[in-house]
Amino acid sequence: MSNIVFIGTSLDNYIADKQGGLEWLTTLPNPEQDDCGFAAFMDSVDALVMGRNTFETLCGFGGEWPYSKPVFVLSRSLHAIPEPLQDKAQLIQGSPEEVTRQLNDKGFRRLYIDGGQTIQSFLEAGLIDEMIISRLPVLLGGGTPLFGELASPLWFQLVETKLLLGSIVMSHYRR
Ligand SMILES: NC(=O)c1ccc[n+]([C@@H]2O[C@H](COP(=O)([O-])OP(=O)(O)OC[C@H]3O[C@@H](n4cnc5c(N)ncnc54)[C@H](OP(=O)(O)O)[C@@H]3O)[C@@H](O)[C@H]2O)c1
Repeated sequence: MSNIVFIGTSLDNYIADKQGGLEWLTTLPNPEQDDCGFAAFMDSVDALVMGRNTFETLCGFGGEWPYSKPVFVLSRSLHAIPEPLQDKAQLIQGSPEEVTRQLNDKGFRRLYIDGGQTIQSFLEAGLIDEMIISRLPVLLGGGTPLFGELASPLWFQLVETKLLLGSIVMSHYRR
């Protein structure tokens, strides 16, 4: 059983810019439409756990729902998933420990954990086993941070690092 982060960041560790924008993630030339390992990663997980802000950003994109795996949206304020997405996503509540246990008990063993605050709460609980971080060569100067404060340092082992599109550094870390 493992909880995994797969995320794109700026050099200064932001996952969205000051306006909440994500355009900087897709501005680098990508003539062959390389998905940077995303489809293979998605195949490897059983379900996604994402924070409400990430879910609302996705809903704002419109278009086709991008995930084929079950999505669990962490929120204390949302009362329902919007009707068109009710077969794609469901609400979940609880601490990172409780959420991990609930989903593991249902047979979802490899969980993709997404959203800044969500990742931070799972890191603080010691419940992130792997992180695959793709760092783009841009300083956003502010925005939504990937990392926050921790009570104590968390060490990871570097599994591998790859260069993508000639300028993105993708590093895979494991606790
Ligand atoms: N660069 C990338 O690859 C990437 C990937 C994902 C997201 N993003 C961006 O990152 C931004 C979102 O990140 P974020 O840090 O703002 O937040 P987030 O983690 O997506 O959402 C935070 C919200 O999730 C809920 N939540 C988190 N932990 C919870 C828990 N244990 N129990 C219940 N609810 C919990 C809370 O919602 P309530 O207030 O409803 O309780 C909280 O306000 C968006 O702009 C998104 O587009 C970027």
